[in-house]
Amino acid sequence: MDTQHPDLHILYAEHLAILRSRTDAALQREGHDHLLVAAGQSHFQFLDDRDYPFCVNPHFKHWLPVSRAPGSWLIYTPGQKPRLVFLQPHDYWHVVPAAPAGYWVDHFDIQIIREPAQARAHLPRDLERCAIIGEANAALDGVVPNNPSGVLDHLHWYRSCKTAYELALMRVASRLGARAHRAAAAAFHAGASEFDIHMAYLAAARQTDNELPYGNIIAINEHGAILHYTDLAHAPPTQRRSLLIDAGASFHGYASDITRTHAAADAGEFRELIEAVDTAQQGFCAKVRSGQSYPELHLHAHQVLAGILKDHGFIRMSAEGAVESGLSSTFFPHGLGHPIGLQVHDVAGFQASDSGGTIPRPPGHPYLRMTRVLEAGMVVTIEPGLYFIDLLLAQLKDKPLAREVRWDRVDAFRPFGGIRIEDDVVCTGGDPENLTRDAFAQL
Ligand code: GLY
Ligand code: MN
Ligand code: MN
Repeated sequence: MDTQHPDLHILYAEHLAILRSRTDAALQREGHDHLLVAAGQSHFQFLDDRDYPFCVNPHFKHWLPVSRAPGSWLIYTPGQKPRLVFLQPHDYWHVVPAAPAGYWVDHFDIQIIREPAQARAHLPRDLERCAIIGEANAALDGVVPNNPSGVLDHLHWYRSCKTAYELALMRVASRLGARAHRAAAAAFHAGASEFDIHMAYLAAARQTDNELPYGNIIAINEHGAILHYTDLAHAPPTQRRSLLIDAGASFHGYASDITRTHAAADAGEFRELIEAVDTAQQGFCAKVRSGQSYPELHLHAHQVLAGILKDHGFIRMSAEGAVESGLSSTFFPHGLGHPIGLQVHDVAGFQASDSGGTIPRPPGHPYLRMTRVLEAGMVVTIEPGLYFIDLLLAQLKDKPLAREVRWDRVDAFRPFGGIRIEDDVVCTGGDPENLTRDAFAQL
């Protein structure tokens, strides 16, 4: 796959100009002269000399497409060229980060250092004037991350609206994910175990687990009812009925987050249920429009999914009754989706303004991760689901509402686990752009 975008250097220059102007405003408002961003340091396992996989500060990779740069720093002073202090240690034990190269390097003054402590000499002297963004363990000889909330609130708020550059990278991340999903589906239908489907996925994405934006969820049969099932059974099941696969890919620090549910060849009724959820999901995606309240879309999804439960004979009461009574939440117990970008669950999903604040979730919906009104440039996931979860069904059995459930139907579907269908959708000034469906269509 061609992951090189011919216009990336132009898009990057625009992106950087936008980032600079947002940062200028954040620093001015909060009374800082410099922004310092620590890429981060490795974390070591308890009583061990083994480190966890390095995970770069998302603020760092917002400025440049570099995710492996422990010990490096970004320094930005309004009006000046951004500076990168890049750690390239003399180290024969580990891979040394590659020298900076690519479309972005000309936009930085780059200083190579060989020891983490050498960064100190390149950081501003007037530390009390600095907003220092980073984890506590990035502290360096008096340079201690202060993570000013006013600066973070400002940067997070505007980060919700992606630049054209960011969208270009997210399109690639989506294509890598779609390609890997196709390989995973083929492996499932060929009889592979969860473990082997995972390996087929990684091979097609050309990414290791540590490069993925989150741990793959590859759930055959009833495992699909465990929302974040991350075990990988090595043996194939004796009977394969369904696959729920929630897996993404990364590109230059940006994530895709994709879920598909597949029915085995002889699982016709389950396939019909998947198709009903798929149709509903595309209807929700079509409502990703500027001015749409995301929590209202979530509540709308409950209505539509409850209608599917009724139409397919799982509940007796009306869709309205199922939503009002909370019955729909037994089958759809998570949020409709979340912002996505540099982080798979991206920041500021609840933020009330560029000064912070919180927009509460609607009562009775404790897992919704996005309560804002959609604006052009935002990217959100749309991931409705219907599940047959033993724990939640058992809790329901003791309640009067249990009379509204057709338990014979529910019991017949428990062995299939559940259904989730998840796309990443861009809110534009007009029709939404579905990164995921477009990516599958381009395969
Ligand atoms: N893959 C995690 C999620 O869908 O939010
Ligand atoms: Mn998601
Ligand atoms: Mn997902």
